Amino acid sequence: MSRCLVTGGAGAIGSNLTAALIARGDSVTILDDLSSGHRSLVPVGARLVVGSVTDDASLEDAFVEKPERVFHLAALFANQNSVEHPDRDLNVNGLGVVKVLEHARRAAVTKVLYTSSSCVYGNKAVMRETDIDFKPDTPYAITKLLGEQYCRFWSDFHKLDTVMVRLFNTYGPGEHPGRYRNVIPNFMKLAMGGEPLPITGSGEETRDFNFVSDTVAGLVLAMDGATTPADVFNLASGRETTIKALAEAINEISGNRAGLTFQPRRGWDHVLTRRGETSKAERQLGYRPAVSLWEGLARTHAWLESVGASA
Ligand SMILES: NC(=O)c1ccc[n+]([C@@H]2O[C@H](COP(=O)([O-])OP(=O)(O)OC[C@H]3O[C@@H](n4cnc5c(N)ncnc54)[C@H](O)[C@@H]3O)[C@@H](O)[C@H]2O)c1
Repeated sequence: MSRCLVTGGAGAIGSNLTAALIARGDSVTILDDLSSGHRSLVPVGARLVVGSVTDDASLEDAFVEKPERVFHLAALFANQNSVEHPDRDLNVNGLGVVKVLEHARRAAVTKVLYTSSSCVYGNKAVMRETDIDFKPDTPYAITKLLGEQYCRFWSDFHKLDTVMVRLFNTYGPGEHPGRYRNVIPNFMKLAMGGEPLPITGSGEETRDFNFVSDTVAGLVLAMDGATTPADVFNLASGRETTIKALAEAINEISGNRAGLTFQPRRGWDHVLTRRGETSKAERQLGYRPAVSLWEGLARTHAWLESVGASA
């Protein structure tokens, strides 16, 4: 059992990760400025430090209990937000990574996990870790890749053990709908309110949707695993789903008869297909995503109903 620091632990994925760590007996401190996270998501038993990963005093407080392991999830989320606020994106996703790595080094942390994103790949038919022809096409994608480069430097030069995971669209309980949030909670909210679901593009664009418990299992495996410093793993479902099929499934689960509407693709969105290649994580970490899209959507819908998220 170990002492962990989870930055961004009041967020959608971080709160689920924290709950999983506490359930197995780890002690967890969360550092979160609550800019997109929620106090109500912080699991019982976690110590919450409210502050920014860019602020040294908050980081010192977060490191007081001498964590052995750091999961760095705090980030400005995500593409649209970064297009509108590129300076904030660079501050949190660039400087924030540098500060966390430096505090981890000084505290002699044994391993830091960094949550990167599939968007570093840009628009590719198959996305695998051996690909180094990156095509980040938003400020968020650029700074997620920048964070990876910083992790590599702190591993190579400072000998701090790091592992990086590229997450594909993660969804599930813990993610509230909102302007900058992912498609699933936003479609669910509209469907629960009887509204048509607005598809930006043709609807034939695909994404790889991974249920949050599968993503969290991958985070824990990557931290626990005997990885080489600065190694990188995709964490995805390995399934491609069209946005149209996703929207139809959400309408069915929600009993929504309002159908779909079509709008022009967002100007920054060039990704037509996205599927994560997970054989490396399967082989080296024993990662096995287990939740079907239908089951995951049903569980997400039930959670959103329980927190009263309808429009
Ligand atoms: N959800 C996805 O589909 C997805 C996909 C790829 C990568 N990721 C990455 O996974 C991580 C977690 O994503 P999420 O979906 O849980 O997002 P989230 O927005 O729910 O969580 C991020 C958390 O970080 C906190 N935060 C933001 N700025 C901060 C700061 N300056 N200091 C301290 N805390 C701060 C927020 O309040 C929030 O609780 C992020 O690094 C994100 O880039 C997520």
